Amino acid sequence: MNPLKEIFKNKIKDIPVWFMRQAGRYLPEYRKIRKNNKNFIDFCLNINDAFKVTIQPLKRFNIDAAIVFSDILLILNATGQNVRFKEKEGPVLDDFNSKLFYQTTKKQITNKLNNVYSIIKKTKKNLPNNKSLIGFAGAPWTLYVYLKNRRSPKNTFNIKSLKGDYKIFEKLSDLIVYHCENQIKAGADIIQIFDSWAGLIPEKEFKYIGIDINRTIIKKLKKSNPKTPIIYFPKGVGQKINLFAEEVKPDGLSIDHEINLHDLNIDKNIVYQGGLNPKYLLLDEKKMLKEAEKYLKFFQNKRYIFNLGHGILPNTDPDRVKKLVNFVKNYQ
Ligand code: CP3
Repeated sequence: MNPLKEIFKNKIKDIPVWFMRQAGRYLPEYRKIRKNNKNFIDFCLNINDAFKVTIQPLKRFNIDAAIVFSDILLILNATGQNVRFKEKEGPVLDDFNSKLFYQTTKKQITNKLNNVYSIIKKTKKNLPNNKSLIGFAGAPWTLYVYLKNRRSPKNTFNIKSLKGDYKIFEKLSDLIVYHCENQIKAGADIIQIFDSWAGLIPEKEFKYIGIDINRTIIKKLKKSNPKTPIIYFPKGVGQKINLFAEEVKPDGLSIDHEINLHDLNIDKNIVYQGGLNPKYLLLDEKKMLKEAEKYLKFFQNKRYIFNLGHGILPNTDPDRVKKLVNFVKNYQ
């Protein structure tokens, strides 16, 4: 029994659980390996160390999936745009080099990200049959935001016009499809696409950049890999999540903590995922479990994967995560 695979086959038995950013700084064993890898990109491409941190959370918690330790920005780095991760500041990118970007071929992606695929192969080989392996990529809009803003839009974001940039989105979606296909070939059972900044898509562009482009990505991936479930995470879109579900029809839909559950038009063909605000893991245990129960109750008898509304925060106590997993696993 592999609960995460089963849920996509229409069976509801166990509630599968995994967490976004389940490998990361909140784990002392991650920090220990991170210390020896000063450069974050090199760390992601270090087969032995990235493999180790990929499986770290499975050694601690009764979770149902490993997510390959990597980053959505590696694909931009593979196009030739330098990406650095600065402590406290996060990612910093060099100026967009349109020539290098458009020249990028599938072969280049395959070569530059070859170690990512080796990490997937290695993880797959070491993972028991009842655990799934998740591969991932950023959605075109979220990658575009980093490409053009050159750092996190958390503080400054001033993309005024997308005029003339539509070609970029098309190229990005091709690159994303190549990278996902390679990950599936290497052994990824499921793909999650992160549109972490979907909330910043200009209203009048939402149909094309929030929806049409993502529908095309799913179509292409379904054509080459009809059996691999695809989960989408369009973060921050509010009530437009229903339009997204109707139009894009992903196999799985990850919801953020700002989504009001009662606004959701539940589609029986979609597996829902996540929702719990990661901040609840910082509060007292009772409050955390009560909020978790809100999601479990709402999705009772529906196909649901337990997860958070965004990644685990670095100041989370790993014991909290353990309590949460056990609570979900014992919930009837
Ligand atoms: O455990 C997992 O979820 C798998 C690994 C993973 C990472 N990044 C590792 C990482 C995944 C799935 C991502 C996705 C990612 N990366 C997203 C989409 C999800 C989201 O959080 O919205 C985005 C926007 C990025 C870009 C990115 N990478 C930022 C903005 C940062 C800096 C912020 C931070 O948390 O420091 C990163 C760095 C990063 N990626 C870390 C990890 C574990 C922290 C790096 C460190 O150890 O210093």
